[in-house]
Amino acid sequence: MMDGGIIVLLGPPGAGKGTQAEGLTEKFDLFHLSTGEALREAVREGSQLGLEVVQIMESGELVPDHLVSEIVVKCISREVQSEGFVLDGFPRNLPQAGFLEGARGLRPLVVVNIDLREEVAVRRLSSRRHCVNCGRIYNVFSSPPEKEGVCDVCGGDLAQRKDDRGEVIQERLRVYREETEPLVGFYSEQGCLVEVGGSGDPQSVFAQLEGEIGKLTWLTRNSTE
Ligand code: AP5
Repeated sequence: MMDGGIIVLLGPPGAGKGTQAEGLTEKFDLFHLSTGEALREAVREGSQLGLEVVQIMESGELVPDHLVSEIVVKCISREVQSEGFVLDGFPRNLPQAGFLEGARGLRPLVVVNIDLREEVAVRRLSSRRHCVNCGRIYNVFSSPPEKEGVCDVCGGDLAQRKDDRGEVIQERLRVYREETEPLVGFYSEQGCLVEVGGSGDPQSVFAQLEGEIGKLTWLTRNSTE
């Protein structure tokens, strides 16, 4: 069993889950598990998993549940000493939520839904860049790197994700509406959902997030301030 708890970040593609997860993990010393990033890493490494998922990801569809669930379980077992987890991109549908629920010790303490209008999400995704080495997220307009095309943190190259292009973005939004959005109602019924507006700048979204979840005692214990 972990000492801490699990915070789940929900929201459409481009809502800022990865950006806010980075802020939360820095401030509260949590472990950030992004299933999207873990899958992209598998693709970069050319592993068996990477070969199985690359085309699915580039088309904007969801990777089969059993493959993603395995990543989550392995990571949580490895990081069992962690003070807590931010799950970014998991669960993504009701069966995955059921899996999390059923696995002992993995019940989310709080689920944050970051809400964003689709047209804003499309603009953000079209101008996103990420570091191919460390995964750090940038935006050409709202958070550019100091030197164009180069990661501030590790000096790696910045690139556009293959799924951040017109038609694929639309497909991801459709998949989100059909498969992931029902989780908002599911967690609301469980009484662990909080809602955060994602349209302000990253700092103001973080301030809302902190206001909503900063009261959790295990989080304040971890705070780096
Ligand atoms: P994943 O990588 O999880 O993609 P996603 O959920 O579509 O989310 P994004 O990473 O696109 O957006 P985000 O909300 O994290 O926004 P970000 O902070 O980057 O998954 C990719 C694929 O992997 C899936 O399509 C699927 O195939 C597979 N997959 C992953 N998990 C799976 C699962 N559980 N089951 C099955 N398949 C799975 O921000 C976006 C941009 O906006 C950035 O440029 C950022 O700098 C900027 N930005 C962020 N916040 C703000 C702000 N407040 N103001 C202005 N700009 C902002």
